[in-house]
Amino acid sequence: MREGAQPAADRLRATGRNEIRRAGSPVGPRATAAPSTSLRAIVLGAAAGGGYPQWNCRCSVCALAWDGDPRVKPRTQSSLAISADGRDWVLLNASPDLGAQIRATPALQPRRTGPAGGRDTPIRAVVLTNGDVDHVAGLLTLREKAPLTVFATAETRAAVGANPLFAVLDPVLVTWREIALGRPFAPLPGLAVEAFAVPGKVPLYLEGDVVEIGTETGATIGLSVRAAGARLDYVPGCAAVTSALAARLAGTDALLFDGTVFHDDEMLREGVGSKTGRRMGHMPVGGADGSLIALASVAAGRKVFVHINNTNPMLVDGSPERRAVDAAGWTVAEDGTEIALPVRGVGEETAWPSPPDTPTTTPATKTPATMRSAPTSSPSTTIAR
Ligand code: MLT
Ligand code: MN
Ligand code: ZN
Repeated sequence: MREGAQPAADRLRATGRNEIRRAGSPVGPRATAAPSTSLRAIVLGAAAGGGYPQWNCRCSVCALAWDGDPRVKPRTQSSLAISADGRDWVLLNASPDLGAQIRATPALQPRRTGPAGGRDTPIRAVVLTNGDVDHVAGLLTLREKAPLTVFATAETRAAVGANPLFAVLDPVLVTWREIALGRPFAPLPGLAVEAFAVPGKVPLYLEGDVVEIGTETGATIGLSVRAAGARLDYVPGCAAVTSALAARLAGTDALLFDGTVFHDDEMLREGVGSKTGRRMGHMPVGGADGSLIALASVAAGRKVFVHINNTNPMLVDGSPERRAVDAAGWTVAEDGTEIALPVRGVGEETAWPSPPDTPTTTPATKTPATMRSAPTSSPSTTIAR
């Protein structure tokens, strides 16, 4: 699904205060983190649900990929890997394409540490930002008898746990931990993660007859990651930028934000769907109420769009939409885009404890009422299906 190894010159995508480049070639020795690096993040999949091109889509953007047009690159579904030491890794969301993503990412492959023939993985934990299929289906790939901690809000854990398929995650090895909003926790030593609610909605498969868009609950969260004083914010799904959200994101070293659609109505324009981006819980990139304008005054060392839908014309090099994104100082993530943040000092993260184990290691089986119609402090829209 991914393009092959790139020439070395092409791998260096951008340099500056923070380094952004393509991760190493798909196979071969793992690169070691430079001592000055506090936080490494690798975009495993830059596309939204369905990937790019989507298996059944011949919209004008997908058609370019199917036809091998050099202006576009295929992308797998939404996931980010983070590490404080370059050795142990945490996945932010587990995509249905996780197997291919691991095969393309040397840092995530089994190491030669144990006895010959043994099994190993540098993937130690997964943090979920919602219960959408493109963010949780990869948990099934991680069922092969390896220890793993899965961090999720009560809402997302309930959504996943309501599906008995996820019982294949052996409770002896897979520990579920509930994350509380605004309470930083350490999924690995030296790495702190704080969850915050962003305007969103329940997963598609839990939508009832009436859908509230823009609710701020544990059903859709952003993650603030800190290591050695550096900070990265990951918001792959967001229905609106409230003033509180803008204030929270300001000053981050790297902002990875929802780039699902450029035009709110692009799926309708392409004749491939009847929903707007907002109806799906995703604000557009462009337009008067889009993220480019909403986040223009939010200072960030790097601004990178992730979770990009296959209909989004900013996927096309040289398109007017890509030029608008470039001019505003944003990067359109590719699979393998790597961000390395420099050490900024001693972080507080070592003082932040992991959340206590939840009472049971098996996923909850009931969906709480909050998943269906949650109150909100932000302006939300109620839409009949
Ligand atoms: C989304 O991001 O809106 C979801 O991934 C849609 C879906 O579940 O297909
Ligand atoms: Mn999605
Ligand atoms: Zn398409």
